[in-house]
Amino acid sequence: MPAAETAPANASAVVPNDLEPYWMPFTANRAFKRSPRLVVRAKDMRVTTADGRTLIDAIAGMWCCNAGHNRDPIVAAIQRQAAELDYVTAFQHSHPAAFELAGRIAALAPGDLDHVFFCNSGSEAVDTALKIALAYHTIRGQGARTRLIGRERGYHGVGFGGISVGGIVPNRKMFGTLLAGVDHLPTTYDRERQAFTKGEPEWGAHLADELERIVGLHDASTIAAVIVEPMAGSTGVLPAPKGYLQRLRQICDRHGLLLIFDEVITGFGRLGPCFAAERYGVLPDMITFAKGVTSGTVPMGGVLVRKGIFDAFMRGPEHVVELFHGYTYSAHPLACAAGLATLDLYRDEKLFERATALEQKFADAVMSLQGLPGVLDIRTVGLAAGIDLAPHPDGPGKRGYAAMDEGFFRQDAIVRVSGDTIALSPSLIVGEDEIGEIVEKTARIIRAVG
Ligand SMILES: Cc1ncc(COP(=O)(O)O)c(C=O)c1O
Repeated sequence: MPAAETAPANASAVVPNDLEPYWMPFTANRAFKRSPRLVVRAKDMRVTTADGRTLIDAIAGMWCCNAGHNRDPIVAAIQRQAAELDYVTAFQHSHPAAFELAGRIAALAPGDLDHVFFCNSGSEAVDTALKIALAYHTIRGQGARTRLIGRERGYHGVGFGGISVGGIVPNRKMFGTLLAGVDHLPTTYDRERQAFTKGEPEWGAHLADELERIVGLHDASTIAAVIVEPMAGSTGVLPAPKGYLQRLRQICDRHGLLLIFDEVITGFGRLGPCFAAERYGVLPDMITFAKGVTSGTVPMGGVLVRKGIFDAFMRGPEHVVELFHGYTYSAHPLACAAGLATLDLYRDEKLFERATALEQKFADAVMSLQGLPGVLDIRTVGLAAGIDLAPHPDGPGKRGYAAMDEGFFRQDAIVRVSGDTIALSPSLIVGEDEIGEIVEKTARIIRAVG
């Protein structure tokens, strides 16, 4: 059914006069503009639409508002910072909150991941990490290590580096030859062997051994780094199989490859501990983060780097820039203020512990959707779930789109869809009643589009 036919009659009365100039990202622009999903206000677990309805936000903005929406302490911190210091050049100068935030994030990270390079998004974080990997090998005299290894069904943002190592076909196929010298591990997902698993699947650790095959093909001396999401979020919540990440770590160690965990989604409590690296007991060489670091309030991303990597750059004359990389808005004062206030909330409200405590209840609740019409698989891990729906006979993605519309316009719930998969990822402040509400509304959505 076209979106326009599904929107309530009064929706057009409350939208701006001209929706045309804004070319929306990752959006079906024409369908949106015929029946806009416009939000004007948010608080905690809820958002208010332009036509005055209150919806439960089942996806924490977009995996980012982990402390809930518009939390007072974060809002106040941003306001204070804006009134005091709007901006200072990020190159050769800085401001105190940048150092404080780097220290706080490093303290939350495992092992000797103790230096932070700031940027403004997950995509920038990924490109930064890939560049650091290449530069690291170069300064150590191993400049032939240029290959980067990603994974099928991985999402690493939309920069050229990120789409090159990423494994989502539509994100890649229109953009030319991408980076040269990239290879991909196979996806860890196999529905036949993993369907309806809570947490990490038992099957699939051996898929890490594909890295040995790739090393055999190209030779380790040509490979710089491997980047994976501990849980692939954007392609439908695909947790790493048990033992998989450990095996990747061992193979990387054997061949001198850097291992990068892209924790843009999993960072800041989505899987319980602050970083998924801790949940899995695997220490990567770099972690990329964004989203939850400011609870989605001000754009910020970053890369956590192990001490040995940072130290390798700290050579040569002291007046010379060590890494020719950075952004005008690296460690922007507003983002740093938001980040510090967000980390305070995570600590004071024990939100990471809360996510761990709720994981089983969330998993049980979401798994109750098994058996509804068209549900092919459900996966859960931490406070994240993916629900695969059977594609509509008219084509892939149609049922997913209908589910999103059904949620927004009729079931008062924002859910995320990727193709025909519904993703749920509530804020870590979610209560048991709200989990019940999210699952109930999702059930109604699934029945409506089934
Ligand atoms: C794992 C991962 N990496 C990178 C990104 C890109 O982040 P951004 O949209 O902030 O550029 C995302 C976004 O969802 C992500 O999930």
